[in-house]
Amino acid sequence: MRATVTATARYLPERVLTNADLEKMVDTSDEWIRNRTGIEKRHLVSEGEVTSDMCAHIANRLLEKSKKSAGEIDVILIATCTPDFPVVATAAIVQDKIGAKNAWGFDIAAACSGFVYAMETGAKMIESGRYNNVMVMGADTMSSIIDYSDRNTCVIFGDGGGGVLLEPTDTDAGVLDSILHTDGSGSQYLKVPAGGSVHPASKDTIEKKMHYVYQDGKTVFKFAVKKMADVSKQILDKNGFTGNDIKLFIPHQANRRIIDAAAKRCGLSPDQILVNINKYGNTTAGTIPIALDEAVETNRLNNGDLLLLAAFGGGFTWGSMLIRWGDT
Ligand code: UT7
Repeated sequence: MRATVTATARYLPERVLTNADLEKMVDTSDEWIRNRTGIEKRHLVSEGEVTSDMCAHIANRLLEKSKKSAGEIDVILIATCTPDFPVVATAAIVQDKIGAKNAWGFDIAAACSGFVYAMETGAKMIESGRYNNVMVMGADTMSSIIDYSDRNTCVIFGDGGGGVLLEPTDTDAGVLDSILHTDGSGSQYLKVPAGGSVHPASKDTIEKKMHYVYQDGKTVFKFAVKKMADVSKQILDKNGFTGNDIKLFIPHQANRRIIDAAAKRCGLSPDQILVNINKYGNTTAGTIPIALDEAVETNRLNNGDLLLLAAFGGGFTWGSMLIRWGDT
């Protein structure tokens, strides 16, 4: 028995921050941002809108699309590095917001690889035979941890999220394979230094702006290009496929140049790749499920198509997943 995707959904907050807006906030230019990242604009939450609100929108849309009631959901998994609170899990808040009275759930912290990690977790739950309806979401309110006076980070990130409903199938469709990795020796290059047990929140940590994302962009870039390309190629080789067999490649959207390098390594042509970083920037755990929902909406996936996902992010974390599209 496999886990297959039976519904997809996404949520992007209404407010939009363009490159032109950023030019007025920090020493940057539309040209630099487009050339170095491919980003033109990003969405940001409005005052008072939080990660669980985005996830509740996504979850309700999944219920609507799958014609299921909230009470039928068994598990809620939320990949996020911007939970509503350090304690409790955002999954618990969403469970309450949507009235999923029979569901249990938890958050998965794997930064930009979070959605692929959560998909693997959800798929294994379905394959175990114990659960029939698992909601897997990836969403981040990056604006809550970005310093909008730091041009190294504020131009890259946006808010948003997406998700899927996983159900069992005994057809050929579903999650075929995944390869996931963690290398904690890379943790120093991309992190939020304070707010955890190493540096609990204090006046000092706030004054030093330690609650914002710190990124050594160059180091992360080099790592991302190599690892995301390697892990994408590796999963194809392992399963006896080539780039030609892939209908659609949905990579984590962190930088257009990283996406192009990974696609080239797998021998994929532009029409096989979903790129939407221009519209949303890097929404961390949100990028892949947002793109997947767009792919479904624009009919880029039909039953039997092979879908390749690939991600990398803080941790370091990275991984790939192969899915044969089709429902139960
Ligand atoms: O999803 C999570 C994982 N994160 C990533 O995958 C991000 C990986 N890294 C990247 O995407 C890129 O490294 C960045 C987009 C963050 C930066 O691009 P880059 O081509 O690596 O630029 P850089 O850091 O090497 O900086 C080049 C120049 C520097 O100026 P000098 O020293 O050459 O005079 C920077 O100070 O660009 C300058 N710079 C900027 N200029 C205008 C850095 N940020 C900006 C900016 N606007 N926003």
